[in-house]
Amino acid sequence: MSARTLRVVVVGAGNMGRRWISIAEESAAFELVGVVDIFTGGARAAVEAIGRPDLPVAATLAEMLERVETDAVANVTIPAAHFGVTVTALARGLHVVSEKPAAATLAESVALTAASEAHDRLFVVSQSRRHNSQLHELKSQASGLGRLGIATTEFFRAPHFGGFRDEMAHPLLLDMAIHPFDSARFLLDADPVAVYCEEYNPSWSWYAGDAAATAIFEMTGGARYIYTGSWASPGAETSWNGSWRVSGENGSAMWNGDEPPRSEPETQAASEGLRYGGVAESLHSFAAAVHVGGTCSGEVHENILSLAMVEAAVISARRGQRIRIDDVLEEARAEAIRAAAERGDEQIRAVLDGWGDAGEHLRAWRATSPAGADLDVARV
Ligand SMILES: NC(=O)c1ccc[n+]([C@@H]2O[C@H](COP(=O)([O-])OP(=O)(O)OC[C@H]3O[C@@H](n4cnc5c(N)ncnc54)[C@H](O)[C@@H]3O)[C@@H](O)[C@H]2O)c1
Repeated sequence: MSARTLRVVVVGAGNMGRRWISIAEESAAFELVGVVDIFTGGARAAVEAIGRPDLPVAATLAEMLERVETDAVANVTIPAAHFGVTVTALARGLHVVSEKPAAATLAESVALTAASEAHDRLFVVSQSRRHNSQLHELKSQASGLGRLGIATTEFFRAPHFGGFRDEMAHPLLLDMAIHPFDSARFLLDADPVAVYCEEYNPSWSWYAGDAAATAIFEMTGGARYIYTGSWASPGAETSWNGSWRVSGENGSAMWNGDEPPRSEPETQAASEGLRYGGVAESLHSFAAAVHVGGTCSGEVHENILSLAMVEAAVISARRGQRIRIDDVLEEARAEAIRAAAERGDEQIRAVLDGWGDAGEHLRAWRATSPAGADLDVARV
């Protein structure tokens, strides 16, 4: 094993977990040391599927940590289990890379951000659709268009999932919109300031909750990001990435989400491209950040703003009001302090008390944390 190999336990051996397990097993950047799933039969089947029946499996992370040494934990469980797994790993001094969302609620995600500070460990959320080479090309083209003022996404599809999405209250906003919201922040190099959102259910929708929404975000610097989406719209469906337009003072850049983007006028795009793309890019930039001691795309202080966009949009639709992102973050911090006190988690409560205003704290943290591990993906 090279000095750059990161030992990792994967927790959650479902659909995505199996992909993560394959990537970790095949990459020289990782040494897979164990697989955990509450359904141990699933964990066992996953290690057999990669030809490693020798690997330890367990039903809980705590049980696995009694048996193996690891540097990191990859959390690929369902959202409701994210908090418990990640807080356990951070408290044991381990770095964590997790599937989105950071946790099931913004308040839990705020608590995990505090846990990452308290234990001085990296916590990175894999926002895999950000690692799309065409999205990076779109950003390069847009950067040649002068000041950017407007970005739009149209997302129209008609999937019949069955299961939990058909029953949940905000299926489109909670389960899907975090991806384009996160991509919009990346594209515009801007953070969300406020949102007005309307959420509704087309009369023919087969979803119990609202399957359609339009949200207008004010971003830092004054740009607006407008998202219109529906999960109940058959015919002329957009790609899963949605259809994008970025409008700047000298022109516009367009991307249909599947094919190379284009701009009018044409700009000299100098996108460097991605080494891995998707989930593999997330995992390797996490490994690079641990080795370099820096931060990377998806680090929780940065990623939590994408989840804040979702939560603020849901609140705006419910209240029929424009909602400020900083207010939503402050409400989440207060809730996280209450929950930490109830759990008797004095360390997290003290860290959150020391934050002061949550939005200001997150911005200050990012301004001082060492960046650039993204550039070092090539080194792992
Ligand atoms: N980035 C993407 O494009 C994308 C796509 C699909 C899913 N996801 C995310 O990936 C995550 C997993 O989704 P999935 O589709 O693999 O779900 P899944 O239901 O197929 O798998 C989840 C697994 O976690 C296990 N699990 C649940 N609680 C656990 C716990 N406390 N400890 C250990 N194991 C536990 C379950 O037994 C199951 O095997 C979710 O957060 C989801 O949002 C991301």
